[in-house]
Amino acid sequence: MHRTLYDILHDVSKSSMVDDGDLQAAGLLILTAALHGLQINRVGIWIFTDDKQAIRCRMLIDGDDCVIDGDLELMRTAYPNYFIALDNERAIVANHAQEHSSTLEFRDSYLIPFGITSMLDAPIRHRGNMLGIICCEHQGPEREWSSEEIAFASALADTYGRAISAAQRNDYERQLHEINEQLEQKINDRTEILQQALRNLNHTQAKLIESEKLASLGRLVSGLAHEINTPLGIAVTSASHCANELKRVQQLYRDEQLNEQEFAQFLAGIDDGLGLINNNLSRAATLVQNFKLSGAIHTANEEEHFELRDCIALTIKSLQPLLKKNQVNCQLQTGAPIHINSYPGAIAQIITNLITNSIHHAFANTPDKQIHIQLDETRGQVTIYYTDNGCGIADDIRAKIFEPFFTTARRTGGSGLGLSIVYNLVTQKLGGEITINEDQSDGAGFIITIPENQKK
Ligand SMILES: Nc1ncnc2c1ncn2[C@@H]1O[C@H](COP(=O)(O)OP(=O)(O)O)[C@@H](O)[C@H]1O
Ligand SMILES: [Mg+2]
Repeated sequence: MHRTLYDILHDVSKSSMVDDGDLQAAGLLILTAALHGLQINRVGIWIFTDDKQAIRCRMLIDGDDCVIDGDLELMRTAYPNYFIALDNERAIVANHAQEHSSTLEFRDSYLIPFGITSMLDAPIRHRGNMLGIICCEHQGPEREWSSEEIAFASALADTYGRAISAAQRNDYERQLHEINEQLEQKINDRTEILQQALRNLNHTQAKLIESEKLASLGRLVSGLAHEINTPLGIAVTSASHCANELKRVQQLYRDEQLNEQEFAQFLAGIDDGLGLINNNLSRAATLVQNFKLSGAIHTANEEEHFELRDCIALTIKSLQPLLKKNQVNCQLQTGAPIHINSYPGAIAQIITNLITNSIHHAFANTPDKQIHIQLDETRGQVTIYYTDNGCGIADDIRAKIFEPFFTTARRTGGSGLGLSIVYNLVTQKLGGEITINEDQSDGAGFIITIPENQKK
């Protein structure tokens, strides 16, 4: 190839503009190269419409004028022979353009008015398809396009194909970037929605836990009310019996019919009655006192020095009506007193929740329903072993039972909060640990270990 043509091509090919993705800049570079290399004044880039029924001018340089994306369009129907030549996908080399079979159709409307005498069209290819042409137009005396010039124009057209690839890649990258940004925005929006949902959930959870705590306190209180009712009832009956007796003896006295035997009987009866009243009222008073001591009504809030065995015994006692009603025998193993500094309210609540769980979940098929609680003290630690002889906790739910809202009794009103409250009280309030007793062969078992001296 002629040295200048080779150099021009080399410069174009090396220019970063070709691969930058700016199709207009690349087009200008390539067309300017064609003008210089081929020593012509008019050159254009023409691209087929999608249906290939027309070819449209993308860029045209005519002397000092440059038209970009103008409305020049050639229809297949108007120039059938030219389009047949294009369909061959080869360069059209028309040395005598005004007579050449492919370009003859342009003669009167185009070639003569613009003084064009020779034409050279090089196909632009992209991914194996011909997209259009670079059209080189020579004015003045006709010329013979040399094979080097034809190769030069073709090489420039190929370079334009390369620029199209770069522009497409840029376009894809831009689209990808946009999609990414949209996606990020969407993710941010969704995250915000999820976070809001989570905040709501936490709020609801806190409310539910609070109400479950109140419910377990309620169970204790109603147990206590039931328990107090019996001695009070006996005291009331006995008092009214004494009052009736008194009235009867007063009447006998007024009628002067009261004999010694009658009077002695009356005194004995009143003595019994008062004894009964006294006993039962003290029993009621003790129950109230015990209930206070059990810490249940403090809703687990104050740290105290207390005896653990008593605390648990009292809690069991306040649940007695519930246990009796369900024919459950709950035994606390006897042993030496264990004095600790901790939260009696929390311990009462833990024991209450474990017992209610045994009653609700364990005993459906157990004829002799038993709960055992055993205490053990070693090296500043107390261990509470809680066991029942019910159905046990199935292997596949063991990992989940301490999670809030996990329940196998949703249909019968289970909230799934009982054991999660127990877990939180043991680990956070009491600074201890709770595990399922894996060694137990039948029924459910829990091992709770807490420090004797709770330091917060
Ligand atoms: N003593 C037990 N015996 C058998 N299963 C139990 C026992 N205690 C708890 N569970 C199981 O653990 C689950 C979670 O208990 P809990 O958190 O108190 O929620 P809930 O009592 O509302 O179901 C229960 O649904 C039950 O399946
Ligand atoms: Mg429960």
